Amino acid sequence: MSDTVLRADGVHKAYNGLQVLQGVSLEVGRGEVKVIIGPSGSGKSTLLRCLALLEPIDGGAVALEDQVLSGLRERELAAHRSEIGMVFQRFNLFQNMTALGNVMVGLRDVRRLPKKEARERALEFLSRVGLADKADSYPEELSGGQQQRVAIARALVMRPKAMLFDEPTSALDVELVREVLDVMEGLARDGMTMVVVSHELRFAHHVASSILMMDEGRVIEEAPPEQFFSSPTHERTKRFLALVE
Ligand SMILES: Nc1ncnc2c1ncn2[C@@H]1O[C@H](COP(=O)(O)OP(=O)(O)OP(=O)(O)O)[C@@H](O)[C@H]1O
Ligand SMILES: [Mg+2]
Repeated sequence: MSDTVLRADGVHKAYNGLQVLQGVSLEVGRGEVKVIIGPSGSGKSTLLRCLALLEPIDGGAVALEDQVLSGLRERELAAHRSEIGMVFQRFNLFQNMTALGNVMVGLRDVRRLPKKEARERALEFLSRVGLADKADSYPEELSGGQQQRVAIARALVMRPKAMLFDEPTSALDVELVREVLDVMEGLARDGMTMVVVSHELRFAHHVASSILMMDEGRVIEEAPPEQFFSSPTHERTKRFLALVE
């Protein structure tokens, strides 16, 4: 088995005739962190949803640890979805469940763990994101940063092979961004395989194995952070970096 965890091969995706992904290829090795940047509408979220098996694709392939998953039937897909953790810009927690309930629900419903075991494991992961003391709080009683950390714990508790983050801090007040980035940095240090859409360039510089620039449904440039920021090759990348910085 190669040490590629997640792979996209020439992925195409269209919505009502609009070509949103036009042959995107991407290879994420074990323990790598790929950060994706690019203008609004370039297809970043769509790419993550395709990688997370939340969207059928129109061409190409998505593979997890050398097994091609795109094209599987819904029943089989569902079994693989929890192997890929996804964290969205808006935390998408169940409002009628406590933090603990949110983190436990997948262990109970998908993994069929007994209640006691699910509860223990969920608490362990809430502690990992620094929220052991908020286990009984409902989402509306938590700050945005805390809610996002619950969402991260909820994905992590399933022990995914890779974690995907779609602008996880862009809906947060500035003073809450750091606590979420710190959790993500910790994950990266622990060797989690990650794909992160984010315009937090300092985070990207510090944590990414490589940075990818998307434009109009394509990856137009990929390089390690040093090289990406100091000598981007594409005009489009230069202009975009000037805007974001
Ligand atoms: N479910 C959908 N139905 C129809 N069109 C869609 C759908 N999802 C995305 N699109 C279109 O696909 C294009 C790419 O959208 P996407 O959300 O992937 O971009 P993005 O790079 O994540 O942008 P942003 O930076 O604003 O989040 C856009 O033109 C968008 O309108
Ligand atoms: Mg998006």
